[in-house]
Amino acid sequence: MTVLSSKTIEGSLVFKSLLFLSSMLFMVSLVLYSGLQRIDDDDIVSSETRIKSPYWSEKEIQKPTTKGKTTPWSDHSGKQKRIRNRQQTRDKRMEAIQQFGAHREEEKRTRIKEGIVSVREQFEQKHPWSDKARVRQAVFDQRIPNLLTTYDVYDCPDLPPPSYPFTWNLMEILENWNAGNTTLPSRIFQALCVFDWETEEHKARNYQQQDLPFVVQNFPEAMRATERWSTPGYMEELLTRNSASQQQATTRTRTSDELTPLYTRWLKAATELGQRQPHNGEDEKPWYFRLSAMLEETAYLYEELPFFDPSLGETFTMLSPKEHRGINCRFGMKGIAAESHFDGHNNFIVVMGGMRRYILAHPDQCNNMELHPKGKPNSRHSKVDWTRIHLEAKASSEKRPITRVQANEIILKAGDMLYLPTYWFHYIVSLDTSYQCNSRSGISTENKHHIVDCGF
Ligand SMILES: *[C@@H]1O[C@H](CO)[C@@H](O)[C@H](O)[C@H]1NC(C)=O
Repeated sequence: MTVLSSKTIEGSLVFKSLLFLSSMLFMVSLVLYSGLQRIDDDDIVSSETRIKSPYWSEKEIQKPTTKGKTTPWSDHSGKQKRIRNRQQTRDKRMEAIQQFGAHREEEKRTRIKEGIVSVREQFEQKHPWSDKARVRQAVFDQRIPNLLTTYDVYDCPDLPPPSYPFTWNLMEILENWNAGNTTLPSRIFQALCVFDWETEEHKARNYQQQDLPFVVQNFPEAMRATERWSTPGYMEELLTRNSASQQQATTRTRTSDELTPLYTRWLKAATELGQRQPHNGEDEKPWYFRLSAMLEETAYLYEELPFFDPSLGETFTMLSPKEHRGINCRFGMKGIAAESHFDGHNNFIVVMGGMRRYILAHPDQCNNMELHPKGKPNSRHSKVDWTRIHLEAKASSEKRPITRVQANEIILKAGDMLYLPTYWFHYIVSLDTSYQCNSRSGISTENKHHIVDCGF
């Protein structure tokens, strides 16, 4: 086993009357980015391409209505007012979430009465969940062998060691494996622990409690979803069958009939791209097919990924139901990447098919990241093209901060769930045709000072 040199560091909402909405809404916010090699993750998407759910328009959230009230907070300081407003927003969200839960239950009852079977139910009648060996096989078949790491990430201690997770110099990581290269090297600089949910749930909970990143495997609902979504034809049927969303999509996105053809088109392009040699000219740029879900408008995604359903209460994967920010799914082609950046929420990421490389860094690396500043386009993202980082560093007469970044990396495979706490930096590249869904909820402030220190 090769031992890598390791360094450690210490490391309403005008709230458009829900009654009105629930009758109106079955919409899919679907955004297609085409022709872009590198694109933004989540928040960073530009306003033309990002379709906001009517529930959660940020602008509206900032201004809860005080109509009909005699300015109850006029005596308070601005800060208290903001706290109060935030609380109001959370209460409203919670109300929306509860109504969503109730509405869905009611729909399900109606559906069952009428003898209608959902796509998921239809699948599970044929492939019973009780056959665990089959599910495991379907998921693990998609894996690659584990690569060498400096310590046994598959047998981590119950509590995170003080230096967890280990880091290495970014330049060393990228020298071993260029950020633009989708071919697996013989070793990677992995430091995150991987927990088997069946036997190591307690460890996962301990690491989560300490606000540290880690990976969980064998999480039952994630395994089931991975198996379904990687069954050929399943996604097509799921998107076709939920035709209510499709028809409504007319008003929100492009044209009514695009949803399924778009997925099919993405899959065809992704398959063709995947079969070609890597770096075979610049003619074909990878792109994402993306599904964004927020409660009612895409209720079927919550049936598919119940671990992201805030109406089911507080769970391991839903730390703060009130802060639920929806579900985002990205279906990526080989080579598509998101520049290193941080997000302002705790994030759970599930890979449902294929492989994605994540390069992670602690929020204390903020000053080394050479970020686009606050308020500017691509704010929170590194300005540096990580595929050319050595060239850029060489061309510069002074020592670049980016060359001091301490980081680690991981390859997420089908069925893997990554917990990424607030403000942790992540660079993402899809190593083949890959599916990923994530959900952000809640904010931990432990590392906020690092981000504030560096101008955010
Ligand atoms: C990509 O990485 C693989 C594995 O380390 C290596 O064999 C290959 O030469 C690299 N390709 C390029 C274009 O650097």
